[in-house]
Amino acid sequence: MHGTGKLLFAAAITLLAILFTDPLFAADADTWRQIRHGAEGYSAVQGRESGMLIQSTGQDWRLLRNGPIAVLGAWGLVLTLLALGGFFLLHGRIRLDAPRTGITVPRWSVYERILHWTTAILFLLLMCSGLLLLYGRETLLPLLGHGAFSSLAAAAKTAHNYSGPLFIVGLLLMLIAWLGDNIPTAVDRQWLKSLGGVTGDRHASAGRMNAGEKGWFWLLMLAGIAVSISGLILDFSNFGQPRSLLQISHVIHSVSALLLSAGALGHIYIGSIGTEGALEGMTTGRVDTTWAEQHHDLWYEQLGRREKKS
Ligand code: HEM
Repeated sequence: MHGTGKLLFAAAITLLAILFTDPLFAADADTWRQIRHGAEGYSAVQGRESGMLIQSTGQDWRLLRNGPIAVLGAWGLVLTLLALGGFFLLHGRIRLDAPRTGITVPRWSVYERILHWTTAILFLLLMCSGLLLLYGRETLLPLLGHGAFSSLAAAAKTAHNYSGPLFIVGLLLMLIAWLGDNIPTAVDRQWLKSLGGVTGDRHASAGRMNAGEKGWFWLLMLAGIAVSISGLILDFSNFGQPRSLLQISHVIHSVSALLLSAGALGHIYIGSIGTEGALEGMTTGRVDTTWAEQHHDLWYEQLGRREKKS
């Protein structure tokens, strides 16, 4: 027999031997079913999951991530943008209903403003890089091509992994700084009933934070804690977490991040083009007394009383 022929013959015999002796190759449907349900066997993987032959929940996770999470998330963000656009078209900007007095009062300290803008920038970086990782394949890859998209996705992943822990610090500092102002009170019920004055003929009363701001604060804290804990589990996956825990964390992480992104779009709209005079409070630290009286009358009264005392 020719040399090459001998080699092929030997390879074929070896393959046949493997097929008839290896239990995996000889396995019937029942064996595969048992493996899918967690039956252990030998695999060359070292470490925590060494006996696992098939990690079946990986497929469930993949279908959930690429199906309901990505699709409902995209719809949620699009509908939020449409609702904000619609509100703007119907109501326009919420303007001051009396002329400015030119007298301003302090609303946000330097510390509060640095904390707000640092955390906001980190949040926006996380939101953009996170959305790129979730939707980039479908949206940017066809536009940029494989080379440019893979560099961008790698940069987004690095930015996401490093800014996550810093955002958690900002979140905790915000919790400490503003928890006291965000405890729900009876005044908030009235505010919510009139949708902050949109449905009534006068502005709803509010303390330093109105019910809308309190809603954003609590969404930020609760979804923020969920996004942070799940993010840390994903970020530091070198602590031996099993893949099933990483998959559950990923689902919690993406759902809470999508909720936060929709909430942030609403907050950014109301805090910028939506309300005349709000942004200058968070940039200069002071607001006109007309704005203070119109949007936060109870806080303004309290401020006046405090000033008279001192
Ligand atoms: C870049 C876009 C943003 C703009 C234009 C903006 C604007 C504002 C403004 C004007 C206020 C003060 C409202 C008032 O005086 O009553 C405010 C408060 C606040 N912002 Fe933002 N913001 C932005 C992004 C963010 C982000 C991304 C976060 C989340 C990390 C955030 C979290 C907060 C919180 C927690 C408050 C205090 C409200 C409360 O405690 O209830 N902001 N923002």
